Amino acid sequence: MALLTPEDLEDLLNKLRQSDETIKASTGKGITEICEEVYGTRPASQKVAIVPITAGNGIIGNFSSSLLAITEYFGLEGYITEHPDITGYYQAVSDGADILLMADDHMFIAHDLKNGKVAANHICTGVIYSEIASRFIHTESKDVLVIGLGRVGYAGTEHLVKKGFNVYAYDPNTEFMEKAIEELGVNAYDSANPKKFSMVFEATPNANTISEGMIAERCLVSTPGIPCALPPELAENGDVERNTDCFESNFGMSSCCKSCKHLCIVVCFWPGYSGCVHLVYGTGLCNTDSWHPVNFLALIKYSC
Ligand SMILES: NC(=O)c1ccc[n+]([C@@H]2O[C@H](COP(=O)([O-])OP(=O)(O)OC[C@H]3O[C@@H](n4cnc5c(N)ncnc54)[C@H](O)[C@@H]3O)[C@@H](O)[C@H]2O)c1
Repeated sequence: MALLTPEDLEDLLNKLRQSDETIKASTGKGITEICEEVYGTRPASQKVAIVPITAGNGIIGNFSSSLLAITEYFGLEGYITEHPDITGYYQAVSDGADILLMADDHMFIAHDLKNGKVAANHICTGVIYSEIASRFIHTESKDVLVIGLGRVGYAGTEHLVKKGFNVYAYDPNTEFMEKAIEELGVNAYDSANPKKFSMVFEATPNANTISEGMIAERCLVSTPGIPCALPPELAENGDVERNTDCFESNFGMSSCCKSCKHLCIVVCFWPGYSGCVHLVYGTGLCNTDSWHPVNFLALIKYSC
């Protein structure tokens, strides 16, 4: 399995600041405000202990320090336990930590020791990315397109439905589609009968999942998916408002930047993006998303 390298995590805080600006430009609110509104909580003076975990493929250099930097960016006190695994866990609990952050190859969780709540990364990712898509300031529409109904996509879809959006969804997995239609009442997106959306939440591990017929001239695509969902040829043919500031601030996602610059506002924040991420997801493992800033804040909020 391919994992993040320390180089992937370089320049994290600058990237985080830039992504926050991108979100503000397209939704009117920054990450913190959005998370506060979604979860109804605020960071107080919680002490966050980051416990390195050596299980599976082991510790990624800079991983814990990246989490610490993000913790502090959002105004919380944080520290990395001296030892990993059980000894680190013991230390964190003994120290009186309020929230533990821990990730192995399969799960990234935040556990609030004070209220007992535990939050999973994939759910928080779905909720916050879909929330961002649904806040696009340049539309009055209530229609949102969801592409991908896996762990992240389904959580986001559920969130959008609860918020009263009219959700159209597409996933080649018929079982997932049927579940979303039956349980959430989504509309099946019919590619043979295209409809254009100004808000798109994309959550697949595949490129080029968005085609020209799906998106309005001015739209917000919010996607945690790697690689970028927008095919380059769409950008070349796009006759759409350009918003280069947003794309230049993108997180090393060169394919994404290229493909989006003529097209629409795209929110893809993956500070540690590297080509290996796709492989990781190809195997169904999610180690590399563990330190994602948006997820992270969502986790904190969710668990507080
Ligand atoms: N799992 C996490 O915690 C997490 C967190 C952040 C980001 N991500 C990223 O989000 C993406 C989705 O993650 P996941 O855990 O939900 O993956 P998943 O494997 O659970 O789900 C992906 C879904 O996308 C669908 N899909 C594939 N190609 C498609 C296409 N062309 N059109 C529509 N749907 C298509 C698949 O059928 C599947 O249902 C990945 O790129 C991942 O890197 C995941």
